[in-house]
Amino acid sequence: MLKKTIDEMHLYEKKVLKALDISGGEATPEEVSRSQDLDLKQVMSAAGALASKDIIKVQKEVYEVLSLSEDGIEYAHEGLPERRILKTLGEYKTIQMEDLSEKSGINPSHVKIAIGWLIRKGWGTMDKGKVIITPEGESSLEISGPDEILLKKILKEKKLSLEGLSHDLKVGFNLLRRRKGLLKIIKNIDYLFQITPKGKEILDIGIEIRKEATQVTHEQLKTGSWRELHYRGYDINAEHPEIFPGKMHPLQRNIQEIRRIFLNLGFTESRGTILESAFWNFDCLFQPQDHAAREMQDTFYVKSPETTDLPSDELVGKVGQAHLNGGNIGSDGWGYRWDVDVARQSVLRTHTTCVSARFLAENKPPLKMFSVGRVFRRETITYKHLPEFHQVEGIVAAEEINFRNLLGILKEFYHQLGFEVRFRPAYFPYTYLSTECEIYLPEKKSWIELGGAGMFRPEVLGPLDVETPVAAFGLGIERLAMIRLGIKDIRMLYQSNLGWLRKLPIIEP
Ligand code: DAH
Repeated sequence: MLKKTIDEMHLYEKKVLKALDISGGEATPEEVSRSQDLDLKQVMSAAGALASKDIIKVQKEVYEVLSLSEDGIEYAHEGLPERRILKTLGEYKTIQMEDLSEKSGINPSHVKIAIGWLIRKGWGTMDKGKVIITPEGESSLEISGPDEILLKKILKEKKLSLEGLSHDLKVGFNLLRRRKGLLKIIKNIDYLFQITPKGKEILDIGIEIRKEATQVTHEQLKTGSWRELHYRGYDINAEHPEIFPGKMHPLQRNIQEIRRIFLNLGFTESRGTILESAFWNFDCLFQPQDHAAREMQDTFYVKSPETTDLPSDELVGKVGQAHLNGGNIGSDGWGYRWDVDVARQSVLRTHTTCVSARFLAENKPPLKMFSVGRVFRRETITYKHLPEFHQVEGIVAAEEINFRNLLGILKEFYHQLGFEVRFRPAYFPYTYLSTECEIYLPEKKSWIELGGAGMFRPEVLGPLDVETPVAAFGLGIERLAMIRLGIKDIRMLYQSNLGWLRKLPIIEP
């Protein structure tokens, strides 16, 4: 066990341990550095490694050290300004304010501060523009104050530990501290290394200090001298810092994965806009204007712009007809008077199906299209609902496309994401046949609903002049992502929970 530890010790670690042995079990970094001809950085990092293996102990003593600024040094040499004034007063007893600077030789800009301290120390008083020495000033002429003593002491010793100050010098320190920029207070740390019992055991076994190969050179390989080199063992269980590199947000990662699946299946990608007209979001999908989903409960109606441009009159007219009486496609329609102004209202799209509708209006089959985007609904925020979320939407339009093909595509999609899928009958105003997809959660032993799909109705296709069948689907993304990420609260996907985000593995999308 210890043998392995010794084998894995770095040359510098061995040197530090040896140095401690020689100096009787303990030494400072500086002593080790001198005796082993290592620089301090090398000593400190080797000592850190030894300490982490409990071979040595690193004692730390933190204390504050006083030193002087440039101004401080000047004061220490020339005396504090109030001292210089006092000296001059000792000679003249009374001096006119305006003569003070010239007579004492101190900088005119320091006169005010100097008088302030002179009065505070009781060495002088002011009377009608004159400065007069006091009896206390007289008796202080030859005696230095604690601040002056400290100033001289720091000047002499360059650095002084704050902890070790005598009571008097502390008084001096408190005085000097009140003057700006005289003193510098620096934190100092003294280290002491001590061998632990484990370190002693290692020394008893004996460590050999010899050169170690960290790199094998071309030369050594050619001459075969690499065979004689000593190599240090690696500790592959050594502690290492945790590193959290930047990475894609997990929701984005899922979205990218979903996009890749459809791109690989040969789908074209399309994008719509978040701000949409009720026309594309509802009307051309044969959703009657009194449909529950349109009510304020579910849809965000936009104030500005309140309305959105509609497509050609012809298309708008045909959609109106489809609602009224089915137009000329053999349907009865909904049988109500369709209102173009309702269709003009701006909404935040409630689903991405409007992207499919727009795409069908602009492209001729055969086609395969998908889109991914944000949708908005007036939901109360809970652990499973947010007012905005993502959907992936798609259509396949071609002569031979049928409902079974649609189920096949959905199966393939969910299989690629690793899920079992089943289909239940469902209803959407724009599809017939219609279905809901559910995926299986093995750990919960239950099925959860993730999206809708169906064959677009003639009432949708007729006005858009689409003559082939169209298979369509729209699937939620957040719930899928939650299952894959193992989270129970949808809000996790939108909060910056750094702890969680950092710990997630990086997976290539
Ligand atoms: N738009 C539906 C929703 O948001 C999902 C959907 C159902 C999309 C059937 C479709 C579809 O394309 O054919 O819940």
